Amino acid sequence: MSEQTDRFILGIETSCDETAASIVKNGKEIVANVVASQIESHKRFGGVVPEIASRHHVEQVTIVLEEVMAQANMSFKDLDAIAVTEGPGLVGALLIGVNAAKALSFAHQIPLVGVHHIAGHIYANQLVDELQFPCLALVVSGGHTELVLMKEHGSFEVIGETLDDAAGEAYDKVARTMGLPYPGGPHIDRLAHEGEPTIKLPRAWLEEGSYHFSFSGLKSAVINTLHNASQKRETIAPENLAASFQESVIEVLVGKTLKAAEAYGVKQVVLAGGVAANKGLREALTSAFTKLPEVNVTIPPLSLCTDNAAMIAAAGTIAFEKGIRGDMAMNGQPGLPLVSYE
Ligand code: KG4
Ligand code: ZN
Repeated sequence: MSEQTDRFILGIETSCDETAASIVKNGKEIVANVVASQIESHKRFGGVVPEIASRHHVEQVTIVLEEVMAQANMSFKDLDAIAVTEGPGLVGALLIGVNAAKALSFAHQIPLVGVHHIAGHIYANQLVDELQFPCLALVVSGGHTELVLMKEHGSFEVIGETLDDAAGEAYDKVARTMGLPYPGGPHIDRLAHEGEPTIKLPRAWLEEGSYHFSFSGLKSAVINTLHNASQKRETIAPENLAASFQESVIEVLVGKTLKAAEAYGVKQVVLAGGVAANKGLREALTSAFTKLPEVNVTIPPLSLCTDNAAMIAAAGTIAFEKGIRGDMAMNGQPGLPLVSYE
């Protein structure tokens, strides 16, 4: 891109419980990044309450946008495009970001680009390392668990996905049963490092050669273990239960990623989504791939694993370069499928 002028894209993300805006240069370099988290408001309900999420997004979106422009010391005329999460997510939450993006696009005559939330999580890695193809992404978030094969920029082939709960969902539900606060993932991760995996729990490998996942059986096994113990008036050390649960999740996630990486001969493996913040998973993935030294493993820093808008701007840059454009009919799409940029 040395001969060309620099490209600045504003990203907007409001699909769940973070109101976020970011400006990214040439799809790789964060110029400004603002995230307003609502976690404190949802904690007391044990999960995200959609109506509360929407209300917070309405209150925050203008403030967050003003802040990101001030942080970047830029004005709207400096932007080449506005990229916004179009889906999947909570419809009322998505709508706030989409409408803010449409308003800015219309008022300042800036091209609009719709981005899939998972494409965003994957492209968080492009802010760390140049993607090399074929590339395999292990996507693990609150709503998704997928293995995505990418043959080139903007090409997404889902080769495996969860048949029931997402990994983050399993973490959050198990944590809730154990009496831990929302979101439970980081609490289980912390506890797991204080305990030992002494409790036998199942691993859902599914049929031979399958890249699909299933976490509901494991979740039920944890709940049964707790119930049985309480009926017998026995106590289970929470740190050992956390360590056992975490070991089961990670073994399957890493095992299937390693197999798929080998089978598809990928050059790079990237980790994406909120659960990518998991310390145990980060360590296990890195150590498993010492067996395949030809594969480059990229893991984003914690701040780029959970929801943010820099990842949306990074994915939006590729979509923009591939000619993807949104218009004033753009809407929040809660069930948007991940499709390649043609
Ligand atoms: O990607 P994300 O921020 O939102 C969605 O797109 O879903 O992911 C949120 C999920 C939650 O389920 C949360 O518990 C989980 O990521 N999470 C973790 C950790 N940090 C966040 N799970 C396990 N270990 C962690 N350290
Ligand atoms: Zn997410």
